[in-house]
Amino acid sequence: MSSGGPDFERMWAELAPVGRSARSGGYFRQPWTAAETELRGWFAEQARDRGLVLDEDPFGNLVAWWRPADADPARPAVLTGSHLDSVLDGGAYDGPLGVASAFCAVDLLRERGIRARRPLAIAAFAEEEGSRFGRACLGSRLAAGAAAWTDVRDLTDRDGVRLGDLLPGGPAEPWLAGIGCYLELHVEQGRALVDHDAPIGVAAGIWPHGRWRFDLQGRADHAGTTRMEDRADPMLTYAMTALAANKQARLAGQRATFGRVEVAPNGTNAVPGRVRAWLDARADSADELAAMVAAIETQARARADRDGTRVEVTAESVSDAVAFDEPLARRVVGLVAGEDPGTARRIPVLPTQAGHDAGILQAAGIPSAMLFVRNPTGVSHAPEEFAPMADCLAGVEALADTLAGLLQ
Ligand code: GLV
Ligand code: MN
Ligand code: MN
Repeated sequence: MSSGGPDFERMWAELAPVGRSARSGGYFRQPWTAAETELRGWFAEQARDRGLVLDEDPFGNLVAWWRPADADPARPAVLTGSHLDSVLDGGAYDGPLGVASAFCAVDLLRERGIRARRPLAIAAFAEEEGSRFGRACLGSRLAAGAAAWTDVRDLTDRDGVRLGDLLPGGPAEPWLAGIGCYLELHVEQGRALVDHDAPIGVAAGIWPHGRWRFDLQGRADHAGTTRMEDRADPMLTYAMTALAANKQARLAGQRATFGRVEVAPNGTNAVPGRVRAWLDARADSADELAAMVAAIETQARARADRDGTRVEVTAESVSDAVAFDEPLARRVVGLVAGEDPGTARRIPVLPTQAGHDAGILQAAGIPSAMLFVRNPTGVSHAPEEFAPMADCLAGVEALADTLAGLLQ
């Protein structure tokens, strides 16, 4: 094997401490914080070390361009990469695995003497998780024109920092117009590859999904002197709504989660005046998703009537179903399998319930595909997220094999 192994291992060891919590072992790599800024510096260094040309668009997306002498600059480029940010207390692999693998794949292509006939670019999309400003895949949405800068520049983070004060914003050069296809390598976020006994899989599509903010308004009061029957407690409305979400999702075989909640004034000896909670809902069809969210909202309103509270529901970011480009997915399977039909049959093509920048690009008309790397725990968005080194290296090889074919 080539030097892809040791290079990847060194790179992974370099990234391991950045943004890691000593307490949980998880990662806090929120966009434009110190940890994520360090990762941006690392990305620039990787680009410079390889003689790649670094660009940053006005939305914070980083792009490193490889334009080999044999490449026809008029041909649309092949884009690969992923993101560097994490959820709060997330895993090491979701995002950075795709970026690190992309740099190592370029090294492998060069070692193999592959003559690229079209340019290649490596991207690190900004705020993919939406962990700071609440909009998933914010960087890719802005670059693809799927979100307007004027609609998001006033978003604030939990400390009141405004997005527009961190980024120059649009209007921007539509650099994605020069991209012919996108290939994102990503850690698998379930156990399908374990069940298939396969280190590498290919994505078929992404479930429709979204985030809805529930604002529950009640009346703050004394926890001791206010009789139970005299309260308007939004915490009760919230508690019943969270249970309703779980029940609706289980009945329908879909997914619904309240993972974030803010309580005001958040004091032990006060009845809360306001609860704000975010529903993350995902389903195998847009109709199922709409029906599930509507059922949860109906139950929240019914409970609010009993509690004397008010409910307001706001859709914050909703993504339609994505079917990845089928011919490209077939091509990726063929290239990873070395055109051996037996091997190709052992590469699973899987749907995913997780959102990705590749879904945004596909929806914007850029043929996109994803490679998944096996995750034996199946855990993701948590410190236990993991991919064995041998599978990560298989991922780098698979990415390099695929890029070698796409660059012809
Ligand atoms: C992104 O990882 C998401 O699916 O929330
Ligand atoms: Mn994620
Ligand atoms: Mn991701």
